[in-house]
Amino acid sequence: MHQLLSLAVKTLILTRHVCLAFPRDIHASQTLSRAQDVDSAYDYVIIGGGTAGLTVADRLTEDGKTTVLVIEYGQLSDSALIKTVQGGFSGMDTQFLYDINSVPQVNLKNRTTAVLIGKVLGGSSAVNAMMTVRGTSEDYDRWGSFFGNHSHWSWQGLLPYFKRALNFVPPNADVTKESNITYEKSFWGGTSGVYAGWPSFQYPATAAQISAFKGIPGVEFPVDSGSGKPGVYWYPTFMDPKLVERSYSRTGHYDGKNRSNYDLITESKVTRIILNGTTATGVSFVHGSAEVETVVNARKEVILAAGGIHSPQILQLSGIGPSKVLAAAQINTVVDLPGVGQNFQDHPMLQSMYQYRNLKLRPSGDDLFSNATFINWASTVWASNRTGPYSIATGNAAAWLPFPVVSSKSADIAAQLLAQDHASTLPAGTDPTVVAGYRAQMQSYASALRGNGTAFYNSVFTGGSSSGILVDLHPLSRGSVNIDPADPQGREPLVDYRALSNPLDVVIMTELMRFSRRFYMNNTLTKGWSPVEIIPGNKVVSDREFADYIVDSLSPTEYHPVGTCAMMPREMGGVVDEELKVYGVKNLRVVDGSIMPTLPGGNTCQTVYAIAEKAADLIRFGAPVVV
Ligand SMILES: Cc1cc2nc3c(=O)[nH]c(=O)nc-3n(C[C@H](O)[C@H](O)[C@H](O)COP(=O)(O)OP(=O)(O)OC[C@H]3O[C@@H](n4cnc5c(N)ncnc54)[C@H](O)[C@@H]3O)c2cc1C
Ligand SMILES: *[C@@H]1O[C@H](CO)[C@@H](O)[C@H](O)[C@H]1NC(C)=O
Ligand SMILES: *[C@@H]1O[C@H](CO)[C@@H](O)[C@H](O)[C@H]1NC(C)=O
Ligand SMILES: *[C@@H]1O[C@H](CO)[C@@H](O)[C@H](O)[C@H]1NC(C)=O
Ligand SMILES: *[C@@H]1O[C@H](CO)[C@@H](O)[C@H](O)[C@H]1NC(C)=O
Ligand SMILES: *[C@@H]1O[C@H](CO)[C@@H](O)[C@H](O)[C@H]1NC(C)=O
Ligand SMILES: *[C@@H]1O[C@H](CO)[C@@H](O)[C@H](O)[C@H]1NC(C)=O
Ligand SMILES: *[C@@H]1O[C@H](CO)[C@@H](O)[C@H](O)[C@H]1NC(C)=O
Ligand SMILES: *[C@@H]1O[C@H](CO)[C@@H](O)[C@H](O)[C@H]1NC(C)=O
Ligand SMILES: *[C@@H]1O[C@H](CO)[C@@H](O)[C@H](O)[C@H]1NC(C)=O
Repeated sequence: MHQLLSLAVKTLILTRHVCLAFPRDIHASQTLSRAQDVDSAYDYVIIGGGTAGLTVADRLTEDGKTTVLVIEYGQLSDSALIKTVQGGFSGMDTQFLYDINSVPQVNLKNRTTAVLIGKVLGGSSAVNAMMTVRGTSEDYDRWGSFFGNHSHWSWQGLLPYFKRALNFVPPNADVTKESNITYEKSFWGGTSGVYAGWPSFQYPATAAQISAFKGIPGVEFPVDSGSGKPGVYWYPTFMDPKLVERSYSRTGHYDGKNRSNYDLITESKVTRIILNGTTATGVSFVHGSAEVETVVNARKEVILAAGGIHSPQILQLSGIGPSKVLAAAQINTVVDLPGVGQNFQDHPMLQSMYQYRNLKLRPSGDDLFSNATFINWASTVWASNRTGPYSIATGNAAAWLPFPVVSSKSADIAAQLLAQDHASTLPAGTDPTVVAGYRAQMQSYASALRGNGTAFYNSVFTGGSSSGILVDLHPLSRGSVNIDPADPQGREPLVDYRALSNPLDVVIMTELMRFSRRFYMNNTLTKGWSPVEIIPGNKVVSDREFADYIVDSLSPTEYHPVGTCAMMPREMGGVVDEELKVYGVKNLRVVDGSIMPTLPGGNTCQTVYAIAEKAADLIRFGAPVVV
């Protein structure tokens, strides 16, 4: 293991915006037995040892020379809860999560929502549900389109980094054959320390559910989840297939690196970026319960990788953000950057539950909860060989469908979207540049709604008789993440999803729900399984009734916070440019989920890894070398 710097450095910062260098011998006085010292300066200081942060740290230190310090708020944990794949959710334990609730959602009867993000070394990759998916090619081409026609942010420009990001290990031959799993290795790489693996077992109902979509006109069945095409397909799990344990940024990009140029300090909260004028020169942080701040200098760059909720917070605390927000919190504006913390997006989730009363396929996912013989067998094969149903995280197949396939209203809704007064669905007083960026996004979404290259509908197959969650992959509403003026340093930021603030989101979600009803209740291929609708129930029929149901039950988050440090032109409310450099600041980049200008049509983790891999090349070589 390389240096784990877990120490309190008791040094007082006397003035803000002044950077102090500390000689090494000060740190040598620290007490923790295995601790090494934080140097006074590194080439790169990375804020956040999460999914992106550790990926970039690993790549930058590969040369054995470039020095990097990663500062992570969470602890380094070897808990079995993180490693366990079974069920996919054991890492989602409060000890590894921030304690944040959203502000009341005015369009959801003032409900608040828990904002789940990982607070542990590895960040959200340590706690997520391990679904390993990408968006469609159109999702990534959309990012580049905001910069014109020749951006290297495109499907073609990212594909090499998707390949570098993950080490794909195919499912075993038996399960591949039994379940008709298809994959195409050309979409994957085999060098990363982060694995895309597969369980050694699948329920027959999963393959049957895939086949059930053959009755729906227009549904495609791409051969691989990494193809960039929407449709119904199998996808892998963030799992080391040998250990049958979670594979995440810590196991892939920190453990075993043992590089003297790669330092990490955990349980350390970054309070702000140190700026000399408009040049980032270092980072200020507080270790553990210490009451003093420590400054570490960055000789080359500061890299902000604190995720979609905390990266905008740290920028704002450092005087980089919308001047109105900063003024309200009594923070001097160093760079007025109106987009910081705006353009906030996450995937909304709806409950939409159907059950096959006569699904004769056995074993089924239900057996793992109700059939003692099956549970016994599952436990035995897991205990002896780490095989069987307990090697499944949250499942490996789902539908990701374009809007014209699920709704006949696509042209109509697209036209309504184009005709909207786009500023009217954003908060009053939103900066004109942010409005311009939103308008460009909505124009792109209008053509996405009409076409078949962007997925809007997502439902995941369980392998059992019932299915529950439906996801809107491209919400139109935009929220915000701003520092809390009441106590900007002490409190978590104010997280406002502004769910349903664009009224067309309800219209789109209603169409997604109606499609689920048709798929389950009016599908000749599954009639024999006796489907019944449980939620929302057949009393919900009219537009009004669906709207009421959505207001009552919507979750505004699938824990995929993005957009708050958007990579867009500055005149479109962007926060970072195509090199991920923060506008108006020297030597500062953002590398994490917050830079996505729009959500991909899929869970976000694999995309974050690809962004981080690409960013590492932009930082090291000044260009995406593998393109
Ligand atoms: C419960 C849950 C389930 C999910 N399921 C899936 C899934 O199945 N598939 C999928 O693809 N995606 C999933 N996601 C989303 C995915 O994991 C995230 O999009 C991705 O990991 C985010 O990476 P990131 O680098 O942007 O941020 P993170 O990985 O969250 O990293 C940010 C890091 O910065 C640290 N940090 C923050 N503030 C500070 C500070 N002030 N000082 C020091 N450190 C700080 C944090 O502690 C954290 O370690 C899920 C997420 C959650 C929370
Ligand atoms: C939500 O809260 C706001 C502000 O407190 C209040 O004006 C409004 O009436 C509330 N709405 C509901 C449905 O309770
Ligand atoms: C991009 O290409 C489209 C069509 O190919 C063209 O209409 C448009 O002018 C181009 N935009 C820029 C900024 O070059
Ligand atoms: C697998 O595919 C074959 C050929 O298309 C089909 O006959 C069989 O029913 C499928 N099996 C499953 C489990 O879907
Ligand atoms: C999209 O798919 C639908 C359903 O198959 C089809 O009716 C429509 O023509 C397709 N649209 C485009 C633009 O290809
Ligand atoms: C780590 O590196 C040090 C110094 O190069 C070496 O002594 C040690 O054996 C290495 N540890 C591991 C686990 O490789
Ligand atoms: C800030 O930058 C100026 C100009 O480059 C330099 O002269 C000065 O020493 C710097 N101040 C600090 C505290 O680093
Ligand atoms: C329970 O599981 C066993 C083993 O898979 C199976 O043989 C049996 O039919 C199942 N029982 C019921 C009631 O489904
Ligand atoms: C474990 O795997 C070995 C080797 O494949 C096999 O012989 C054994 O039967 C397996 N154990 C169980 C309980 O399935
Ligand atoms: C059910 O499917 C049939 C045949 O495809 C179709 O004619 C009918 O309109 C559908 N009914 C509903 C309620 O969607």
